Amino acid sequence: MIDFKSLFRPGILATRPYSPGKPICEVRRELGLGDIIKLASNENPEGPLPEVLEAIAEAACDLNRYPDSSAFRLTEALAANLGVTPDELILGNGSNEVIDILIRALVSPGENVIFSQHSFIVYALTTAVHFECGRAVPLTADDRHDLPAMAAAIDANTKLVIVCNPNNPTGTYNTADEFTAFMKQVPPRVVVAVDEAYYEYVTAPDYPQVLSMRGEYPNLVSLRTFSKIHSLAGLRLGYAIGHAGLITELHKTREPFNVNSLSQAAAVACLQNPAAVADRARRNERERERLARNLEAIGFQVVPSQANFLLVRCGGCPDRMKSALLLTTSMLMKGVIVRPMHAFGLGEGALRISVGLPEENDRCVAALREILS
Ligand SMILES: Cc1ncc(COP(=O)(O)O)c(C=O)c1O
Repeated sequence: MIDFKSLFRPGILATRPYSPGKPICEVRRELGLGDIIKLASNENPEGPLPEVLEAIAEAACDLNRYPDSSAFRLTEALAANLGVTPDELILGNGSNEVIDILIRALVSPGENVIFSQHSFIVYALTTAVHFECGRAVPLTADDRHDLPAMAAAIDANTKLVIVCNPNNPTGTYNTADEFTAFMKQVPPRVVVAVDEAYYEYVTAPDYPQVLSMRGEYPNLVSLRTFSKIHSLAGLRLGYAIGHAGLITELHKTREPFNVNSLSQAAAVACLQNPAAVADRARRNERERERLARNLEAIGFQVVPSQANFLLVRCGGCPDRMKSALLLTTSMLMKGVIVRPMHAFGLGEGALRISVGLPEENDRCVAALREILS
């Protein structure tokens, strides 16, 4: 009998697989419930636009063909939309893949990547399997990236710093002044990737416009995705914008045909309707603030968010209900999927709730109210 564990690198053995929010079909199967809502993965509760579905249906007729490996049409359209040149863009099978590409391409054994301890869990997982190169820096007391501490953590072996802004799972953001001060501390040999997965939802006027800083800081990269406001999480499409010199090298490490043809067609169609993005951002903001007030009214502490989710703590709840795991399980029994935050290291009492449709948010609050009483 082979001892399979002995075959693997220590970093792999120590890593736990990514645990996503439960899909609706799984909860339906396991609990036999019919009417289920999912507020656990920061997805857009509004489906893809009709014209996007049409573009997908049309592209589906050519599924016997490999996709355009250079994603020419989409890259041109995206570059025009962002005001950048096509050679400043690399697309990935979700921004997850772009994060993986950056780490694989930049980091040799003995070198490191810095990120925040309570941030998107993929940074910790991806660096763990890549020579255990991750170095996590705690958040500030108000749940934001501690940028001065992250700058201070940079050493001679640091290759990459990942800043998640707004941060998942806290929803908090770092301001333009804070970010500029941070960039002044970072040596040009260190790449800074700002994960802006929730960029389109942000309304704070002092949020940094990283894209416009890339001329001054050629080591700066933005990561964006079609999974959130564009409602294409199921198709997997993300991208990075950065200096052409950097992007050219990153392209060498991506798999051929990494972006499928349905994603390419769907994204081109999304880009033709910027008004829909703005409308969705407005509706999200309205619902997020309403959900926050309703959760506070039943005893939760809500962290101010610029994204499409809320981090809440059960501080004001009855003592017997101060466990997010217990709350999550009780919610599941009522057909509402939310996410406990212990895997993110945020403690027993923290819960992340994605902003849903108005009726979904009402049902979520009603279920929590019932459980707490
Ligand atoms: C901060 C952050 N980055 C990246 C992603 C992943 O995006 P994608 O679906 O493009 O891989 C997520 C998804 O939840 C996220 O929260």
